Amino acid sequence: MEINNEQIEAIVKQVLSNLSGTSGSTATAGNGSIPSKVRVAMLTELGKMEVKEFPMPEVGDDDILVRVEGCGICGTDSHEYKRDPFGLIPVALGHEGTGEIVRLGKNVTKDSAGKPVKVGDKIVTCMIFKDNPDITMFDLNKKNVGGADVYGLLPDDNVHANGWFADYILVRGALGSTFFNVSDLDLDSRILIEPCAVLVHAVERAKSTGILRFNSRVVVQGCGPIGLICVAVLKTMGVQNIITVDGNPGRLEFSKKLGATDTVNFKDYNGIEEMAKGVESKFGGHIADFAFQCTGSPAGHSNIYKFVRNGGGLCELGFFINGGDATINPHFDICSKELTIVGSWVYTLRDYATTFDFLKGAKAIGLPMSELITDKYPLSRVDEAFKKAAAQTGLKIAVVAD
Ligand SMILES: NC(=O)c1ccc[n+]([C@@H]2O[C@H](COP(=O)([O-])OP(=O)(O)OC[C@H]3O[C@@H](n4cnc5c(N)ncnc54)[C@H](O)[C@@H]3O)[C@@H](O)[C@H]2O)c1
Ligand SMILES: [Zn+2]
Repeated sequence: MEINNEQIEAIVKQVLSNLSGTSGSTATAGNGSIPSKVRVAMLTELGKMEVKEFPMPEVGDDDILVRVEGCGICGTDSHEYKRDPFGLIPVALGHEGTGEIVRLGKNVTKDSAGKPVKVGDKIVTCMIFKDNPDITMFDLNKKNVGGADVYGLLPDDNVHANGWFADYILVRGALGSTFFNVSDLDLDSRILIEPCAVLVHAVERAKSTGILRFNSRVVVQGCGPIGLICVAVLKTMGVQNIITVDGNPGRLEFSKKLGATDTVNFKDYNGIEEMAKGVESKFGGHIADFAFQCTGSPAGHSNIYKFVRNGGGLCELGFFINGGDATINPHFDICSKELTIVGSWVYTLRDYATTFDFLKGAKAIGLPMSELITDKYPLSRVDEAFKKAAAQTGLKIAVVAD
């Protein structure tokens, strides 16, 4: 058998890394199977994800090397894929990822919530505070991710393994990375943590109005992953009376499995006034106390007010990015109704911990959360996965280890 230079280098690295593992400076996975190269899916041009190979990064005393198990494709990833609005190409995408710790720098003993970590534990990353690496979740009750970076949307550098569409990712303490030990959640739940945190945050914002209660009548408009998870969060916290609004019968039907009591297909109604009447009759002669706007459609924003009673509330969370202007009538829609409105954008670090509990609660009451992941592609077929996500024929599309 011929051994080439690359293989020799791999063997030497392996021996050295095992040595450093036993000397106590860096703990390493026992099976000694860390390859010398990392495969990273890079967006190299618009509409093109390529799996590239780079040398396996060194693991510093504050770092964690993670073997990736899976990562969901987010709407933000799809925007990057189609248009690169953040000007990041070439970029290692993927922020909804999770995997197993295979090497652990000697200074890393606890996650961002203070929970102990060891090689073999399963983690997710959250935010990166480049300006303040010492920050912990307990400092961050109010600050949301708007002030931070995340893995999967970082400029490329000499590490390259900066996104979760890869077989390994290097989580770097010096960058101010936050991460959580989520070994007690199954893989699908872990893949869903990030989008679920968006809804935990939105429901927290909604609760801040004082209007959303266990016995509220709630409308959730939009049954993409965001609206569907919104229903699941509401159901898990005990809200019993939820109507979903969408034009997609399959998604509306699925919303019932996640906790919707009834559905309204806007295609069955002639205009918003008639549709509002439809909601009213399905709520037994009442309109909603509270509504969540979970579409990126300006028409959706204009319509949402009509579903809410006088003195009610609404949470607008459908515009992660600028989706254009929407027309409303301030007199009828807000003033005379004395509506309380909150906006919601991403999440805080603290919402992450709540999200872990939500996912356990959702499982405990039998909500089929994993059915939100409609398609799984191996890393080698990441480009197909992105094309599937762009086609919008599934719900959450995930890339998993080969
Ligand atoms: N606030 C945040 O931090 C945050 C985070 C992530 C995503 N988002 C936003 O949430 C929105 C939804 O995300 P998603 O992944 O579920 O998207 P999606 O496109 O999969 O789902 C949107 C759903 O809305 C429905 N819809 C469109 N127009 C409608 C209308 N006028 N009335 C009723 N239903 C309508 C569609 O049929 C679709 O099922 C996106 O626009 C995204 O920007 C916000
Ligand atoms: Zn996301």
